[in-house]
Parts: sequence; structure tokens; C-alpha cells
Amino acid sequence: MRITIVGSGYVGLVSGACFADFGHSVVCVDKDADKIAALKAGRMPIYEPGLDALVAENVRQERLIFTTDLAAAASDADAVFIAVGTPSRRGDGFADLSFVHAVAREIAPALRGYTVVCTKSTVPVGTGDEVERIIREVNPAAEVSVASNPEFLREGAAIADFKRPDRIVVGTQDARAEAVMREVYRPLYLNQAPILVTDRRTAELTKYAANAFLAAKITFINEVADLCEAVGADVQQVARGIGLDKRIGPKFLHAGPGYGGSCFPKDTLALVKTAQDAGTPLRLVETVVAVNDQRKRAMARKVIKACGGSVRGKTVALLGLTFKPDTDDMRDAPSLAIVAGLQDAGARIVAYDPEGMAHARTLMPEVTYAEDAYACAEGADALVIVTEWNAFRALDLGRLARIMNAPVMVDLRNIYRSQDVRAKGFSYRGIGTDPGLSQADKA
Ligand code: UDX
Repeated sequence: MRITIVGSGYVGLVSGACFADFGHSVVCVDKDADKIAALKAGRMPIYEPGLDALVAENVRQERLIFTTDLAAAASDADAVFIAVGTPSRRGDGFADLSFVHAVAREIAPALRGYTVVCTKSTVPVGTGDEVERIIREVNPAAEVSVASNPEFLREGAAIADFKRPDRIVVGTQDARAEAVMREVYRPLYLNQAPILVTDRRTAELTKYAANAFLAAKITFINEVADLCEAVGADVQQVARGIGLDKRIGPKFLHAGPGYGGSCFPKDTLALVKTAQDAGTPLRLVETVVAVNDQRKRAMARKVIKACGGSVRGKTVALLGLTFKPDTDDMRDAPSLAIVAGLQDAGARIVAYDPEGMAHARTLMPEVTYAEDAYACAEGADALVIVTEWNAFRALDLGRLARIMNAPVMVDLRNIYRSQDVRAKGFSYRGIGTDPGLSQADKA
């Protein structure tokens, strides 16, 4: 199959490299000439484990090429995947579809022969209809089917997720388009990944519903964690206790500082708006969005409490800034709200992140950035674990206690056991799990 991917961002690049690895002939397009030049030189615009090697190998095998020439790339393709950004529109929270529509307009005159045009970006219900309308308006003779094929990749695990998906969702009611999509995914199909073929609107909504459900699951356990702290229970054991019920499942029940990233915040908000517009508000999701927003800021208050009620003039060390490990992505990261809350309360912030600091520097210029975890903790009045990078899981606690001004640890990801940390002389606060606290502390 000849596949063209429009948009060489996160989704486009991972999808393109993986399709090429299946043996398809793939062209990745982007209008950003610097990005394409960098990709041609083997430099990745994002950090994703394994991506550079996968790209290099498929470029070497001549199955993957990069270009800025969208029209030429689209004209040869059996399938064109639109994987451009759909940011939240400022003001109303709706997904901004101007990039998607622009691609439809630009590829329409170039299409030759039968082509399936597929939206891979997360797009609101009805976007496929509009893409089809635009293409037919610009080029009434085009032999085209417009399908929806949402992705469910997680950053940091995107290649594995692409190659071993739980399911593939294809939204089309056109048998010819379905056949092309089955051929595109045949290598996975043989691996028994279920392909769910639905109508286009159902496929579009499935993506939003999946993300909203996962966001709700996280938010549920986060609120249960707060309750655990209040009543003296342990959220990790509650999560295990409910997660073993197959109807609930164990995943996405890690309590933490609130979800962030490029998908959950944006997609939940867009779904809320779509539902309000349709006159069927999703009140549960509205609440999830509000609770998660408040939670990020509440984490700063948790740190202030752990520091005895004030951080004015104190130094707080933050380990981890990205919204999750194994990414350099800072979008909607809880660290942004935590830093703002602590700075507003008069703290000086020192931070370290294995991959996120370049981006963080531009977003939070008043923060001091350290070389590693120990340099970050040196002289600090509290150490806050914000993102659970593996590099933070086995820190030398004795050394940290010695170099810190006050041995206070706030572990927002529960990667340490309270008794281990307390044994090294720390005062320790986890999330929803404080069995070591005295009743007086709890009061
Ligand atoms: C998510 C979806 O998982 C993916 O299917 C979709 O295509 C894009 O959005 P991603 O944003 O990369 O992927 O990260 P994910 O691993 O899902 O984590 C999202 C956020 O939830 C992170 O901030 C993470 O820290 C948080 N999270 C996740 C929790 O707080 N607890 C959990 O149990 C799981």
C-alpha cells in the first residue's frame, strides 16, 4: 500500500514509521520545512523511546520518506491519513479544525485514482462529513472515500501501542474503503487485533468516549485517595481491591496529581462542548474536567501543608515536570499548576526532569533547573515527586536526607513506601496513603 501521512507530529510520525515497518511505502508530510529537514537528517522532533531507530531503519529500507510537498504525496497514495493538530480553540474549548480543513482543501485537487482519506487526529463527531464536503466541493470528480480511524496511542509507549493495539476502529460504510483499511492494517489483523468497523460518526465518538472514560477512572480514584487520607485508609489497596473485579479492571487506577498531557484535557473539554451543543450534556465528564483542574492546584496546597503550613522563603525541589514519564511533553502537566501555586505562596522552586527541561525552561523561566535529582534536592526544604520517572524510583534516601535542609518528601505518585522513607528520617506524604501519620497529624 502507498500511504501518505499528513502532519509529522506525534501521531503522524509514530503511525508513519510503524506503517513503513509493516512493509508499506510511506510518505510523511509536514508544512514545517525545518521539521522535515531535521527528520531527513535523522533528528526526531519529539522524544519517544525507540522512534529514532524505527525511523532510521525504515528510511534506510526506502519505505519511509519525508517531504513538504503535500499535493505530490497525496496524488500517489492509496490512503491519506490526516494527523495534524486539533488544539483547543481559545475561548470556547472546541477543537480547532482549521488545520484539518486546510489539508482537505489542499489534497482535493491532487487526488488521482481511488483514495481513502482518513482522519487520524482526534476530531469531533461530524468532522469526516465536513472533510468529505470540502473535498467534493473542490474536486467533484475525485474518487474518494472519507473514513475515520482514531488512534489510541499513549506517549512513551506509542510504538508498542501501535503494533499491539487492543483494537483498531475504522469508521466507514463503504466496502471499498473498508477493504483498503483492512489491507493497511493486515499485519496487525494477522496478529488478531480486532478491527471494529462502524459508521464514521460512531468511530469519531468512540475515541472521545474512550478518553473521557479513562479520565473519569483516574479522577474517581483521585477523589477516593482524598477520602482515604481523610478517613485513614490506603488508596493503593482500595485500587487493587476494586481492580481485581474484572468488570472494573486494574488499569488507570493510580492516584496522582491529576491527569495532563495532549489528549485527556483537550478531548474531555471538546466532548463536553459537543454534548452541550447536542443538547445532551455529559454531566459526569463536566465534573471530571472541573475536579481534575482543581486537583492540580490543590497539590501545591498539599506541599505547603507538608512544609508545616508555609513555604514562604523556602526552597521546594521538584522531581519530574512532564505530564508523565518517558516523554518530553509538558502540555497541561500538573507541574505547571503546582509550580505556580508554590511560587504564589512565596517558595523558590528548583526542578529536575530527565527530558522535559528544555521545554519547561520556556514555560517556567523563574524556576532554577538542576543537573540531576541530587543537585535538585541539595539545600531544599521539601522534595516533591511530581512525575514517576524510573530514575526517581531508587534514589539514595540517606544521601537525600543529608543534603536537604529539611527532609520532607511529598510523593505525588506513590513510588515510595512510607515506612522506607520515614526510616531514613524523612517526613513523608504520599497520595491517599498515610498509614504512618499519627491521629494528631490526621486531625
Ligand atoms: C492518552 C490515552 O491513554 C491514549 O489512548 C490516547 O490516544 C491519548 O491520551 P497519553 O496522554 O499519552 O495517552 O497518556 P496516559 O498514559 O494515558 O496518561 C494520561 C495522564 O493520566 C497522565 O498525566 C498520567 O500521569 C495520568 N494517569 C494515568 C494517572 O494519573 N493515573 C493512571 O492510573 C493513569
